[in-house]
Amino acid sequence: MKPFQELLLQTDFSRNDLLSLLAAEGDDRQQLFQRAKSVKLQNIGNKVYFRGLIEFSNICAKDCLYCGIRKSNEKVVRYEASDDEILEACRFAWQNRFGSVVLQSGELSSPTFVKRVDALLRKIKNLSDNELGITLSCGEQTAETYRQWFESGAHRYLLRIESSNPELYRKIHPENDFHNFGRRLQALKDLKSCGYQVGTGVMIGLPFQTTEDLANDLLFLKQMDVDMVGMGPYIEHEDTPLYTFRNDLKTKQQRFDMALKMVAALRLLMPDINIAAATALQAIDPAGREKALTIGANILMPNLTPCDYRKEYQLYEDKPCLDEDAELCRNCLEARIELTGCEIGYGEWGDSKHFMKKK
Ligand code: 5AD
Ligand code: FES
Repeated sequence: MKPFQELLLQTDFSRNDLLSLLAAEGDDRQQLFQRAKSVKLQNIGNKVYFRGLIEFSNICAKDCLYCGIRKSNEKVVRYEASDDEILEACRFAWQNRFGSVVLQSGELSSPTFVKRVDALLRKIKNLSDNELGITLSCGEQTAETYRQWFESGAHRYLLRIESSNPELYRKIHPENDFHNFGRRLQALKDLKSCGYQVGTGVMIGLPFQTTEDLANDLLFLKQMDVDMVGMGPYIEHEDTPLYTFRNDLKTKQQRFDMALKMVAALRLLMPDINIAAATALQAIDPAGREKALTIGANILMPNLTPCDYRKEYQLYEDKPCLDEDAELCRNCLEARIELTGCEIGYGEWGDSKHFMKKK
């Protein structure tokens, strides 16, 4: 085996190299984090960009076996935020110079839904003098819908592959055409052809998942040449089918630690992409997202969802910030970021450097 120091200085990584990175413990782990931090600084600088997250509806036609707002979970009270509520959250983002918002929802594809999102995009652009950047995270749609939304003002799209291993994907989704790995891949390709900056990602610590799967996930992200990545620990939810396997999981702390190593390894592998500090990190460790920012991540998504709706958007247990706006208090945000040594990119879109270079 090559010395770990040497491995860290590489610019290309084999599956075995990635496995070594993901296995790092103790001093090696610290060095991996140090290296990821310096690769980030060298390639994209020290800024953190905000994306105000608006979870505007939890109505979902799908039934992913891990997700708390899956269609079959009857305990969830379904909501749809009004246009006024959504626009109010956008105005907050704009006035506080967040630069961008992310509109996220359960997955629907009815013409009414497609039209509604379209109209919202135009209204958001209008209210912010075209200044707010808009990322969508509304699941798999037809190429035509993606195109329409792009034309109406969305320019980034998040659609996680969840796992790049088709067999594992099958185990965490119902077996039907509606939850098909190939369809998900196609959607990612369609998004790219439309001109979006495309973000994807995986859950870390899923039942049945191996470290080899995670190394392959990293290679998948590289091979797909994605512009942005959001990935975080899998967290069990008691009202979902995957909860059956809760006793087979790694501890939450182990999943958290692995998620941080995944972020650091990805930064070495893809030095100029945007990497989000996932909210799920914060469900395990109150300073989880800040930790990710110090070791390679550069995007933070403060939650702007109207408070009354938050408890109904529980994708996993212990989702943070259920009933507080402190998250959004500028002083608190600034204080927390300051501890990471990063600077806030106020009022900037913070587009993926990787994407810009391709253009
Ligand atoms: N644990 C962690 N992440 C989850 N997501 C959904 N359910 C869970 C869970 N139980 C993530 C998925 C999805 C994103 C919106 O939230 O990766 O793409
Ligand atoms: Fe809604 Fe997976 S349960 S998209």
